[in-house]
Amino acid sequence: MQVATTKKALIDALLHHKSVGLVPTMGALHSGHASLVKAARAENDTVVASIFVNPLQFEALGDCDDYRNYPRQLDADLALLEEAGVDIVFAPDVEEMYPGGLPLVWARTGSIGTKLEGASRPGHFDGVATVVAKLFNLVRPDRAYFGQKDAQQVAVIRRLVADLDIPVEIRPVPIIRGADGLAESSRNQRLSADQRAQALVLPQVLSALQRRKAAGEALDIQGARDTLASADGVRLDHLEIVDPATLEPLEIDGLLTQPALVVAAIFVGPVRLIDNIEL
Ligand code: PAF
Repeated sequence: MQVATTKKALIDALLHHKSVGLVPTMGALHSGHASLVKAARAENDTVVASIFVNPLQFEALGDCDDYRNYPRQLDADLALLEEAGVDIVFAPDVEEMYPGGLPLVWARTGSIGTKLEGASRPGHFDGVATVVAKLFNLVRPDRAYFGQKDAQQVAVIRRLVADLDIPVEIRPVPIIRGADGLAESSRNQRLSADQRAQALVLPQVLSALQRRKAAGEALDIQGARDTLASADGVRLDHLEIVDPATLEPLEIDGLLTQPALVVAAIFVGPVRLIDNIEL
């Protein structure tokens, strides 16, 4: 496995490669990321993973505790990527990625990036789209792999490549869950054992909705919100039922007759957790 910390080293490493799969990450890797690499490995000759904690997608362009405290563990991440079968890791620092300061020109995500997660984290998806566009330009992958846990991110990136005609196929990869049902996330590291137990109400509420749908029963979206809002140690950010492609809210009158996604975010202590389920 080659590790490139500069754009030039990355481009040199990519000369003479056939099909390329890209797995963009911010590090703090877990089994969810390993599943992205596995999917990329199965479909491409060369697999590139990037590790870059992107200040643009954090509050105040990275001048915040969430950015400063974001777990950074390069050696452990490289070991996981090597084991998972990555060929090239791109791990630049901020100056390499944004020479001379943060960019003036950004990708603007509009209404798909300002609702749901984007309403709680203004500018977040513009920062994601900007860095992902840069990674696509540097790596020129045939396919790029993103976890379905960040459903809005997948929807935003699909629109990014469609609207800007970027020639890459976007491959969402299903959510990986711990044995207790909690969706894998780098943020889980910041939960105490008690907080992790409290967080389980999120996957429980989502799978209860899925069971009701499978049984042909009416869906009580407000009831699901109330359960989360009143759970011990939990603060509800949002729970919505939306169109999977546009993320526009769906008006459902009890029974659901079209594909839908339930997306939710909660705070457990200071940690913000997201999850979703397809219905
Ligand atoms: O999902 C993430 O880890 C990040 O948002 C991404 C796609 C690597 C862009 O920084």
